[in-house]
Amino acid sequence: MDYPLALIGYPIQHSLSPWIHRTFLEETDLKGNYTIEEIFPARFESEIQYLLDKGYVGFNVTLPFKQKIIPLLDELDDNAKQIGAVNTVVKRNNRLIGYNTDGIGYIRTLEQYYPEFMKNKEKHILIIGAGGAARGIYFALNQFGFQSIDITNRTTENALEIVKGKAAKTYSEVISLSKAQENLKKYDLIIQTTSVGMKPNTEQSPLQLHNLKDSVIVSDILYQPIWTNFIKDAVAQGARIHLGHTMLLNQAQYAFEIWTGKQPSIKGMDQKLKQILE
Ligand code: ATR
Repeated sequence: MDYPLALIGYPIQHSLSPWIHRTFLEETDLKGNYTIEEIFPARFESEIQYLLDKGYVGFNVTLPFKQKIIPLLDELDDNAKQIGAVNTVVKRNNRLIGYNTDGIGYIRTLEQYYPEFMKNKEKHILIIGAGGAARGIYFALNQFGFQSIDITNRTTENALEIVKGKAAKTYSEVISLSKAQENLKKYDLIIQTTSVGMKPNTEQSPLQLHNLKDSVIVSDILYQPIWTNFIKDAVAQGARIHLGHTMLLNQAQYAFEIWTGKQPSIKGMDQKLKQILE
């Protein structure tokens, strides 16, 4: 079987997905390719139809189409339903099925780098941000059984919207950025999911890290740059860190599994990707 795969979005600059998926194809000995398909938002309906007819087996969806794609799909998986956005589509028996890989991708990185953290569900977690990625990670942590997950965000309403859908066992508080900053010592894992600190505004940080718990893990899902000011702060404070490119890689691995049924190894790619991004 052939696997023509693609990334759909606009604009798409310097995406690492073609490199990642072509490496996966080689590694799993599958035939196929992964291309970039920019679609002008104003012509979304007609262009997307053209692409679907072109015979792609699967594609990733990025900004600004993660929600716009939904009415064109035949089915959504539970994560995509809960998050309200799709970033991976597979064509199976002529039906288009939408997935969201954000949460599972993130959980896999924790299992890989901090397996001992995953064993204690009473750990206190703080998520900074309340966008699509935060929502995906929040629900995945809920599903995984974590019982204490607070959210802080510039716009409180967006965080309140997320916790409305929390699991019965999970306790969540929505707190202001300043209150979060005062209470950082409470947390065992702090996850930065906002776009603050992303290139070209690399001098910014959503909050200042200080007075942290000894064993804390500080995680940033941004990978452009890998060494955000937030992560640099964490290093300076002696925290254990968790870098954003790992989520990119694990999300891609999960998408590849959805498309092909094969799980490529990401061993070794982690270091290569880090070198590319550094
Ligand atoms: P994604 O889908 O990648 O998570 P998003 O949905 O655009 O992206 O979410 C962006 C997140 O970054 C939100 O939490 C947003 O805060 P608001 O909910 O207040 O908009 C946060 N964010 C973006 N720019 C910010 C800024 N300058 N200061 C603080 N937070 C910011």
